[in-house]
Amino acid sequence: MPGGSVWVLVLALALPSNGQQHLEEAKRIMTTTPVIDGHNDLPWQLLQKFNNQLMLPAANLTLLNDTHTNIPKLRQGHVGGQFWSVYVPCETQNKDAVKRTLEQMDVVQRMCDLYPDTFACVTDSNGVREAFRSGKVASLIGVEGGHSIDSSLGILRTLYRLGARYMTLTHSCNTPWADNWLVDTKEEKPVHHGLSPFGKRVVEEMNRLGMIVDLAHVSVDTMKVVLNISKAPVIFSHSSAYSICPHRRNVPDDVLRLVASTGSLVMVNFYNAYVTCSGTATLSDVADHMDYVKKVAGAKAVGFGGDYDGVPGVPTGLEDVSKYPALVAELLARNWTEEEVKWALAENLLRVFSKVEEVKKSLQGTAALEMPIAFEELEGTCRTSYGYSKGAGTARAPSAALALPLALLLSVLR
Ligand SMILES: *[C@@H]1O[C@H](CO)[C@@H](O)[C@H](O)[C@H]1NC(C)=O
Ligand SMILES: *[C@@H]1O[C@H](CO)[C@@H](O)[C@H](O)[C@H]1NC(C)=O
Ligand SMILES: *[C@@H]1O[C@H](CO)[C@@H](O)[C@H](O)[C@H]1NC(C)=O
Ligand SMILES: *[C@@H]1O[C@H](CO)[C@@H](O)[C@H](O)[C@H]1NC(C)=O
Ligand SMILES: [Zn+2]
Repeated sequence: MPGGSVWVLVLALALPSNGQQHLEEAKRIMTTTPVIDGHNDLPWQLLQKFNNQLMLPAANLTLLNDTHTNIPKLRQGHVGGQFWSVYVPCETQNKDAVKRTLEQMDVVQRMCDLYPDTFACVTDSNGVREAFRSGKVASLIGVEGGHSIDSSLGILRTLYRLGARYMTLTHSCNTPWADNWLVDTKEEKPVHHGLSPFGKRVVEEMNRLGMIVDLAHVSVDTMKVVLNISKAPVIFSHSSAYSICPHRRNVPDDVLRLVASTGSLVMVNFYNAYVTCSGTATLSDVADHMDYVKKVAGAKAVGFGGDYDGVPGVPTGLEDVSKYPALVAELLARNWTEEEVKWALAENLLRVFSKVEEVKKSLQGTAALEMPIAFEELEGTCRTSYGYSKGAGTARAPSAALALPLALLLSVLR
């Protein structure tokens, strides 16, 4: 080996590569500004695997090893804040959605109680900053889908009191008051072209309560109506950029511009299907989405919304919640400044959250909205009508439109 090559080799061994440098830089930044992620479905995993029995030996969150999320991985990933999703499927709409949502909120609370050295359940932006200082994962509750309030402002307020701090207006189904993204694929018919008058009251009440409005999963019309009427900035807790991958769960450019003009936030989703519109993706593909949102809406509009434990395929390089520093290293390699990285990691979410809290404060003298949804706008067949008509407690009969097909179906099955 000629002498020169030896020196090159020695240098290469002595100096960390750019990649290593960026990773160390990322970890240094994240020691004081850890990531706040917009959406993690660990509570859904806890339901499916253990029926929410956290004391089962296999449910130990330190040892859990077949999920994207466990305590050692959260530590490695410098996760300092997490909106835990209290997701319940659309199938529960008009059935046991409220009960199941309450149970998922309970399991998050018990997670905090059982692992107090790791999690701190908090309900405001100051609580998040305190958790940062004490090295704990600030744990917040996100309700994923308006079906969880069963078209009731009373339930909305009660969920807020129990700690819910964002609500995604729909999951992947329309509610009786808001359209979801499947109307943009034509798999569902648009019903409200955004929000019904009751849906607008839901947003107004969320502003009054201080609950963040989340526009992941909603239709583009719903996005636009809400960005127009909300008194506070909003978030997309787990959505990526439509121009990079034209999936209808992603955010189109005209909406990204409204995000910028309202001081709102897009927390980029890592799900392969939303990142590359295919079954596979890499960390670099996710960075492309973050770069794009930054380019169109600015660095103050970008965040992280991994969707870990809620999706079947995550990118190579972002296998679980321990990998956020690797993504931050990639942003640094792409010349994001330290300040921009800190905004994306935590400061953008804290800014939105504080603004939502300010709007709540400014509306303190305002009375709770009381006007309920019209009885006719409710769906499902198992409801009583107390309050809507005198003495009426009878079950709601299936509508005529449903009764005939149902009768036919039953006669076929018989
Ligand atoms: C994963 O956890 C289970 C249950 O605690 C344990 O039996 C298994 O050996 C673990 N697997 C690995 C690869 O650590
Ligand atoms: C989980 O496992 C760890 C490591 O074995 C142990 O220290 C801890 O007490 C367990 N926690 C619970 C709640 O079972
Ligand atoms: C909402 O839309 C109306 C009518 O198009 C417009 O005049 C108004 O400026 C919009 N408000 C916001 C906050 O975008
Ligand atoms: C980052 O900046 C450096 C120095 O200005 C430049 O050489 C490099 O091409 C830039 N990289 C990217 C990905 O923009
Ligand atoms: Zn989702």
